[in-house]
Amino acid sequence: MKIVVIGGSGLIGSKLVIKLREHGHEAIAASPSSGVNTLTGEGLAEALKGASVVVDVSNSPSFEDAAVLKFFETSTRNLLTHEAAAGVGHHVALSVVGTERMSESGYFRAKIAQETMIKNSAIPYSIVRATQFFEFLKQLADISFDGDKVRLPPVLFQPMAADDVASALGRIAVGPPVNGTVEIGGPEQFRLDELVRQRLAALKDPREVIADPEALYSGAKVSLRTLVPDKTARLGETRFETWLTQSAAQIPSRKVG
Ligand SMILES: NC(=O)c1ccc[n+]([C@@H]2O[C@H](COP(=O)([O-])OP(=O)(O)OC[C@H]3O[C@@H](n4cnc5c(N)ncnc54)[C@H](OP(=O)(O)O)[C@@H]3O)[C@@H](O)[C@H]2O)c1
Repeated sequence: MKIVVIGGSGLIGSKLVIKLREHGHEAIAASPSSGVNTLTGEGLAEALKGASVVVDVSNSPSFEDAAVLKFFETSTRNLLTHEAAAGVGHHVALSVVGTERMSESGYFRAKIAQETMIKNSAIPYSIVRATQFFEFLKQLADISFDGDKVRLPPVLFQPMAADDVASALGRIAVGPPVNGTVEIGGPEQFRLDELVRQRLAALKDPREVIADPEALYSGAKVSLRTLVPDKTARLGETRFETWLTQSAAQIPSRKVG
């Protein structure tokens, strides 16, 4: 099966491409660095020729409110149009657990717009909402740092390893479209401030983490269960302690997501 991974050079995309190839699929990593740009449409028709499935794990290079909205609206519109022309039978997109509960945030308004366009299109689809990645904890500290302390709300949090996200996406991509939303999450719940504190300690990052009930998450007010998935969520296997001891955890990933 030919499967095009939009954002195939990214954290999740690069893992997904490897897993799909291991299972014998023709997986194409598509992104600006390989000449495929969903914002401009460059290279899309050629990349999608003969594809059965498209998995969109791209992310906006800018997180400024207007830029991120423009990214997800324009790239999703271009993708769905080219998929219809190419006869693609399954559009899979990666979104975030709790997206609809965080519309105060410009980033999550953009993800809502992305999900809505997919649901309204004629292409069969699966929206996969994941909880935060373990790899994202350091970046979460960076965006929650006020120059003195890292301020995070003490809410529940059920993050997962990027590797488990890619495995779940791979299984869904080769299966029938669910024409709905699937939630995936990690095997354990933590308090957000506690886990970021542990992550910084493991990185020997001296910044102090404060539990601040007024602190925002990516610009949105969150309550105890905003970030946690439903009971029906499919759970990854990798525990945080196990992930911490793996070498990947020693290298903070490059971008905020
Ligand atoms: N961070 C989290 O905890 C979290 C949790 C749940 C869901 N998610 C979702 O996961 C998704 C992927 O995140 P990630 O961390 O894997 O992303 P990432 O590592 O930042 O990678 C982003 C990818 O998007 C590509 N891209 C950027 N502009 C593009 C364009 N114009 N056309 C096509 N591709 C473009 C990049 O390509 P180049 O390398 O060529 O620039 C790169 O491959 C996002 O949609 C995010 O909402 C994130």
